Amino acid sequence: MIKNMIDSRVVLYAIFITSLCDAAKILAVFPTAIPSHYILGNALLRGLANAGHDVTMLSPFTEKNPPKNCSWRDIVLTGVIDQQQENIKMLTKYQWLGQYSSLTALIVPFMGAYTSEKILNHTNVQKLMRSGEKFDVVIVGQFHSEATKAFSNLFDAHLILFSSIGTNSMLNHLVGNPSLPSFAPEFMSSFPPKMSFLQRVQNTIYRFMISSVLHLYAYSANDKMVKKYFPSPFDQLDLKDALYNVSLVLLNSHLSISSAIPYVPCMIDIGGFHVKPPKKLPNDLQVFLDSAKEGVIYMSLGSNIKSKDLPPECKTAILNTFSKLKLKVLWKWEDDVMPGQPTNVKIGKWLPQQDILAHPNVKLFITQGGLLSTIETVYRGVPIIAIPFFGDQQMNAYSAEKAGYGIVLLSKDLSEESLTSVIEEILNNPKYTDEAKRRSKIINDRQVSPIDNAVYWVEYVVRHNGAKHLRVQYLDLAWYQYYLLDVFAFLLAVAITS
Ligand SMILES: *[C@@H]1O[C@H](CO)[C@@H](O)[C@H](O)[C@H]1NC(C)=O
Ligand SMILES: *[C@@H]1O[C@H](CO)[C@@H](O)[C@H](O)[C@H]1NC(C)=O
Repeated sequence: MIKNMIDSRVVLYAIFITSLCDAAKILAVFPTAIPSHYILGNALLRGLANAGHDVTMLSPFTEKNPPKNCSWRDIVLTGVIDQQQENIKMLTKYQWLGQYSSLTALIVPFMGAYTSEKILNHTNVQKLMRSGEKFDVVIVGQFHSEATKAFSNLFDAHLILFSSIGTNSMLNHLVGNPSLPSFAPEFMSSFPPKMSFLQRVQNTIYRFMISSVLHLYAYSANDKMVKKYFPSPFDQLDLKDALYNVSLVLLNSHLSISSAIPYVPCMIDIGGFHVKPPKKLPNDLQVFLDSAKEGVIYMSLGSNIKSKDLPPECKTAILNTFSKLKLKVLWKWEDDVMPGQPTNVKIGKWLPQQDILAHPNVKLFITQGGLLSTIETVYRGVPIIAIPFFGDQQMNAYSAEKAGYGIVLLSKDLSEESLTSVIEEILNNPKYTDEAKRRSKIINDRQVSPIDNAVYWVEYVVRHNGAKHLRVQYLDLAWYQYYLLDVFAFLLAVAITS
């Protein structure tokens, strides 16, 4: 009798819960063939799938191991990877620009428009667009394929943006986030948050350039693609309706790695959400790391740059430096053999980076300064030497240096002497490790885990039918009204005439 009562209560409770949080149908659009972007999109979508939502991933990659108990579908942009990786290689050629190489960010909107066309014209995407299928939410990885934001109108869904690099001026104006060039350094500069006069002048010019590219080229080019590739009647859509109709922005950033800046209510920080609790290491690595009494240097240049393809003089300099060290070195090396491999160096084609960084004997991480690596190293409290190559790596590298948990070593300056001296500086001066550990404490001090927070906010948008109450009303002001130019002009006119 009592058992029956409990059973029926459990059933009732179960019905109550499922009716409270219906599974949402979620489409994620991560069309860039940059592995780190995909890894982030994938981690976000996994979190949502695990929470019981029905997810579809549109990207150039296939998930080989989709979560078993969940509803996961891949729509693969076949044939896009090679092409895009050529573009990425092209960007590495601009290193000679040095501090200014971040200016290559200006090329990105053009690459984005090119990508948009490739995506919208793709057979698998055309099939989806013409299927009549609807979604509750469309999550777009913010990387300039602006046209895909109009999927929200096509699929009758709420639009959520995901930014892998935190706030930036290509995103802020879409949701009205305050970011005057006086205090918000451009994504492509390596300026500190507190800029000198000349830096503010440069920063304002950068902002002007980026805004011009977006407004004079990117948005209209993408709008044309909506009109060309969307099925009727959606080919009549105005892309601007989608661009400025964002329900939520999930930001892959955190105060432990970026400086304190304002966020409008629809912006939510989930930086570190892709980092998993440490797992057991493979046996050989466990033994290698455990036995390194003097400590270990972990080196990996990420997924775009291959260590084995470094210029021979760089490789020689690194090997000579490592061979003199008392420490052991674990190096992500994409080949079976390493010519001249010193005895204290162990290589691996693929290494479980997050778990390695969690090992207490790891004293230093030599990285290209990729975003994921930067977050993972802060999460685990390991200082870095950053050898940046392209894209945001330079910015991340300099920001780690300014933050005090890393040192930048440009590949053109890399020699046996320079590398030895920065390794000694980091290992002998405790301030770098202390700063990494201090930041690690901050990123790990969260009310809820960042992935649970992301899931909560996506569900919040669905529960509140787009959560338009999060949208700041001043987004509807014209730019001259926002900057009070009309008011100043009026006051000036009054002052002059009276
Ligand atoms: C699927 O399994 C994972 C891991 O066991 C679990 O965390 C998740 O909640 C499950 N998801 C669903 C929808 O049952
Ligand atoms: C803005 O998005 C909501 C859904 O979040 C949708 O109902 C509305 O029609 C959209 N507005 C425009 C102008 O497209």
